[in-house]
Amino acid sequence: MTPIASMSRAFFSFMFTLTLLLFFKATTVLAQSGSLPEEEKNALHEIADQLGKKDWDFNLNPCDGNSNWSTPKRYDMPCDLNRNFLSGTIPKEWESTNLEYMSLIVNRLSKPIPKYLGNITTLVYLNLESNSFNGTIPTELEKLVNLENLILSDNNLTGELPIELNNLKKLTEL
Ligand SMILES: *[C@@H]1O[C@H](CO)[C@@H](O)[C@H](O)[C@H]1NC(C)=O
Ligand SMILES: *[C@@H]1O[C@H](CO)[C@@H](O)[C@H](O)[C@H]1NC(C)=O
Ligand SMILES: *[C@@H]1O[C@H](CO)[C@@H](O)[C@H](O)[C@H]1NC(C)=O
Ligand SMILES: *[C@@H]1O[C@H](CO)[C@@H](O)[C@H](O)[C@H]1NC(C)=O
Repeated sequence: MTPIASMSRAFFSFMFTLTLLLFFKATTVLAQSGSLPEEEKNALHEIADQLGKKDWDFNLNPCDGNSNWSTPKRYDMPCDLNRNFLSGTIPKEWESTNLEYMSLIVNRLSKPIPKYLGNITTLVYLNLESNSFNGTIPTELEKLVNLENLILSDNNLTGELPIELNNLKKLTEL
């Protein structure tokens, strides 16, 4: 596959993820106003398939309190662009997402790790392994208070581990 083709594949998978995120927000609003229209149900069927969710009852409204739908969380909202020949750096636009899981391993991302990653405070899992990030680890990562896994191995990072990482009280893997 050419880098262009895999870039566009990566882009579409990212857009799909974004669509999922927006969709869940939209269904929350929609569910407050009654039952699900047929086309929403069909779309939810597809999403449930993609997420491997088998326990949703599509005849129940997901948000009326009677349904047994398990809420999508953590690993249901991934940003997995592993092994995609992505180069450059992580777009600043991602700052405004509510991503919880971001994995970009084995790409060709370079330059220092962007400080604005510290603004995606919803992140629980961040894996930048096997890229070409250089420079020091930004102290802004201390703002990722929900982070449980921070994996930076196999990059070109220099300097010391910032003392501020002590603020990541939920961190279990570094
Ligand atoms: C949810 O409800 C459906 C239909 O009532 C049922 O088939 C399914 O087993 C339930 N799932 C769980 C996890 O309880
Ligand atoms: C993080 O977000 C704040 C508030 O929107 C903004 O002022 C700041 O510049 C952002 N940080 C970076 C490094 O972009
Ligand atoms: C790491 O940096 C060195 C020196 O700048 C460079 O020669 C090397 O190619 C870089 N390695 C990676 C994996 O980016
Ligand atoms: C990071 O690598 C780029 C080349 O990819 C280089 O221009 C820059 O000086 C490096 N920065 C640091 C802090 O090593």
